[in-house]
Amino acid sequence: MNILVTGGAGYIGSHTCVALLKAGHSVVIADNLCNSKREAVDRIEEIAGKKVIFYKINVTDSALIDILFSNHQFEGVIHFAGLKAVGESVEKPIDYYYNNIVSTMVLTQACVKHGVAKFVFSSSATVYGDNQVPFVETMKLLPTTNPYGESKVMSERILTDAATAHPDLAVTLLRYFNPVGAHPSGLIGEAPNGIPNNLMPYVAQVAKGKLEKLRVFGNDYGTIDGTGVRDYIHVMDLAQGHVDALDHLAPGVHIYNLGTGRGTSVLELVHAFEEANGLKVPFEIVPRRAGDIASCYADASKAEQELGWKASRGIVEMCRDSWNFEKNFKG
Ligand code: NAD
Ligand code: UD1
Repeated sequence: MNILVTGGAGYIGSHTCVALLKAGHSVVIADNLCNSKREAVDRIEEIAGKKVIFYKINVTDSALIDILFSNHQFEGVIHFAGLKAVGESVEKPIDYYYNNIVSTMVLTQACVKHGVAKFVFSSSATVYGDNQVPFVETMKLLPTTNPYGESKVMSERILTDAATAHPDLAVTLLRYFNPVGAHPSGLIGEAPNGIPNNLMPYVAQVAKGKLEKLRVFGNDYGTIDGTGVRDYIHVMDLAQGHVDALDHLAPGVHIYNLGTGRGTSVLELVHAFEEANGLKVPFEIVPRRAGDIASCYADASKAEQELGWKASRGIVEMCRDSWNFEKNFKG
């Protein structure tokens, strides 16, 4: 299939482009590089041994998107482009709502106008809010406490309503849990700007000596060791989930959790990282971070039953590949 990948130069998008190319699809990337670099596109081509078409455009620009759809016969769209920093979304809510929601509307409109039926959307486990774990796709969603999370809830709603009004549309909403790791080549991975907010890149930068020590946000949660529990998923498994979702797209809206179904605490992850890489990660316990929940992990059985997809990489591989990328990264 000929696939438009928005945000294809970013972390999850770049790994998915590699997986799509390896599966025999053609890829056109639309990315404004606001949180990525042009080199990522060269690296996708280097790993996959195939070419992609790249456009540096803002996908909220409806006129440009219309031209793009006129010039290419897309068979599907995977929409990764979005802003994703939770804290920043609280400071700049309008930027987040505009970028994340308008991009979804512009692309949906273009699909309807140009007869492109297949749409895969990057959603997040954050839409579940502080629900009972494990999170199941059928759960009633709870408030997310930040504009980033709400932009995902609203985008899901827009796509659901569009699919109701246009019965030919086949929409898949993929709710990612906590993506970590990198391509084993170390050529592509997650390279956050400034000090990382998320645990794995923070741990990797402490291990590298770029940051002094990890601050563990709270050890008084009702979890195995009192620290927060998350469902970390290797980005290579996540990427494959998109290829499988594309293969199974059918009219209507289909929602899948992409997680491992296993929870790992902060301290378990730190120890796994130390063991996998033979390194020390100094840490201290500090108070809880505002907005955090105790536990978040998936019931991932629906994706396995319906898409035949299951995460195969464990926490040791995630820690090894995250470190492999970080230690070679020059940023
Ligand atoms: P990323 O920032 O690495 O990639 C997003 C890409 O989109 C970047 O290359 C950026 O330049 C581009 N982009 C942003 N706005 C754009 C616009 N208006 N026009 C064109 N390009 C634009 O992020 P990621 O981690 O790869 O996340 C991809 C998607 O998955 C996002 O929608 C994110 O919200 C979602 N998601 C991510 C996580 C995570 O932990 N990484 C978890 C759940 C959901
Ligand atoms: C964060 C976002 C969430 C988003 C997800 C994936 C917040 C409040 N939530 O979730 O909306 O969908 O990333 O991008 O930002 N931790 C530490 N020390 C650190 C960093 C993290 O102890 O320096 C702990 C956290 O308290 C948490 C766990 O590590 O228990 C994972 O944190 P993080 O990687 O930021 O992901 P989430 O909190 O799950």
